[in-house]
Amino acid sequence: MSENILELQNIRKEYPGVVALNDVSLGFKKGEVHAIIGENGAGKSTFIKIITGAIEPTLGEVFFENKKLNKATPADRLELGITAIYQEFNLFNHLSVAENIYFNRFDKQKGLIDYSSIEEKSKKVLNKLGIKIDPKTLVKNLTVGYQQLIEIAKSISRTVKVMIMDEPSAPLTNNELKFLFDIIRDLKADGIAIIYISHRLEEIFDVCDKVSVFRDGNYLETKTVRDTNKEELIKLMVNRELDDSFPHIELEKGEKVLEVKNLKSNHLKDISFAAYKGERLGFAGLVGAGRTEVARAIFGADKLNAGEIFIEGIKVSINNPEDAIKFGIGLIPEDRKHQGALLHLSIKENISYAYMRKIANLLGIINDKEEEIIVKEQINSLKVKTPSALQLVKNLSGGNQQKVVLAKWLLMKSKILIFDEPTRGIDVGAKQEIYNLMNELALMGKVIIIISSEMPELIGCSDRIIVMSEGKITGELIKENITQEKILELASITEEEQNAKY
Ligand SMILES: Nc1ncnc2c1ncn2[C@@H]1O[C@H](COP(=O)(O)OP(=O)(O)OP(=O)(O)O)[C@@H](O)[C@H]1O
Ligand SMILES: [Mg+2]
Repeated sequence: MSENILELQNIRKEYPGVVALNDVSLGFKKGEVHAIIGENGAGKSTFIKIITGAIEPTLGEVFFENKKLNKATPADRLELGITAIYQEFNLFNHLSVAENIYFNRFDKQKGLIDYSSIEEKSKKVLNKLGIKIDPKTLVKNLTVGYQQLIEIAKSISRTVKVMIMDEPSAPLTNNELKFLFDIIRDLKADGIAIIYISHRLEEIFDVCDKVSVFRDGNYLETKTVRDTNKEELIKLMVNRELDDSFPHIELEKGEKVLEVKNLKSNHLKDISFAAYKGERLGFAGLVGAGRTEVARAIFGADKLNAGEIFIEGIKVSINNPEDAIKFGIGLIPEDRKHQGALLHLSIKENISYAYMRKIANLLGIINDKEEEIIVKEQINSLKVKTPSALQLVKNLSGGNQQKVVLAKWLLMKSKILIFDEPTRGIDVGAKQEIYNLMNELALMGKVIIIISSEMPELIGCSDRIIVMSEGKITGELIKENITQEKILELASITEEEQNAKY
């Protein structure tokens, strides 16, 4: 008899050309928060899916409370108390919180859904988690952070014994993250086994007891969090020494490339700023401050009510992303899943699509050989983990999908590149590569605009930071004067305070 509530033995998972997991054995205990870390493509999500029954292992066994789970379907496992929260939510936006929590398990009265009953029960679940929202609220009206919490509420409304969280923190603000950690501590105190996946190593030290490291589909070892440190974990993950500081290079600021005057949209209130050749310009602000809206407005993705955009001194009219691309603007969007990658196409098709269309317009033909070489170069320089360039993007790990979107934009030869949350879901090693890449692009004279909620990253990467709050620019900080405190102060100025000031 094992004292582990969940135990995986000799798990192997093969895909054509890929060994996603190779002979992994690992157990989990009640009341313990157990992190799994590893580079993009190391096998973390595959491991999770084998636990939930979403996929079947090629070899190996899963034991739950000392019983083999072989034939158990995902629904059976959910019933047994094994639940997972994925990075993409499974919520129905147009339904209420209560309807989401009790979806498919409605109490009925005379054949009709008994709303007061599910609302009452939802209220109890939400109270237990300390979430103060009305169960009648429609999910689409909640912030991403709250939607995440509703996923958790949904899970704990059943019997839960094992709760898996695959990168739960990626979309959360600092406060929401603290709240998530409080909930995790409560779940732990209730004896639930928690499996936690994250690329942000600080979080492991905040909330986890144990940490297991995967590399290239292999399980390496498990450490007690108390007895390890960030450097050791990074070294285990990437198999080399890695300095996780920001590789900043000093650059002369060149002439003005982009100028934005009095941009107004439904959410933006009179945004004006300029950006210069070789400059790395950061945008800071809380979630919802309007940073992504500024990016989308410049890129022609959202409708503007007013405002002018100048590129190299010439006024341009940008009505859609095609226009923006034509004027040399590239946007690597925050929501890469939905806006960036064509999941059902291959890596090659994704990378070369936009770029090739551009040269095909000039030449009328696409040169296969050239295309292949270009795509290979990108795969190598960004270290996309894949058996071949023909692999479908949907078969790549989350982080590697993001690299493909990046590659596509890097090839577009844009003058202005906007990176919205460029390292979300990306492992430590690849983060460094992206920082180096931003530096190289700046060195080539491009304008780099960076939006990031990770404060150390934003500070480390930017020459200048514009801070936004509630759709307005509330301040600007230059390299020497940038501190986390100053950013936070500017980011929390409310509209009333702004009005009082002027
Ligand atoms: N359906 C599939 N077909 C082919 N290969 C797949 C499939 N699913 C996963 N893989 C491959 O298995 C490997 C492990 O992927 P997995 O998603 O488990 O990585 P991960 O550790 O979760 O990475 P990330 O941090 O990027 O999310 C990757 O090389 C991936 O491309
Ligand atoms: Mg994953």
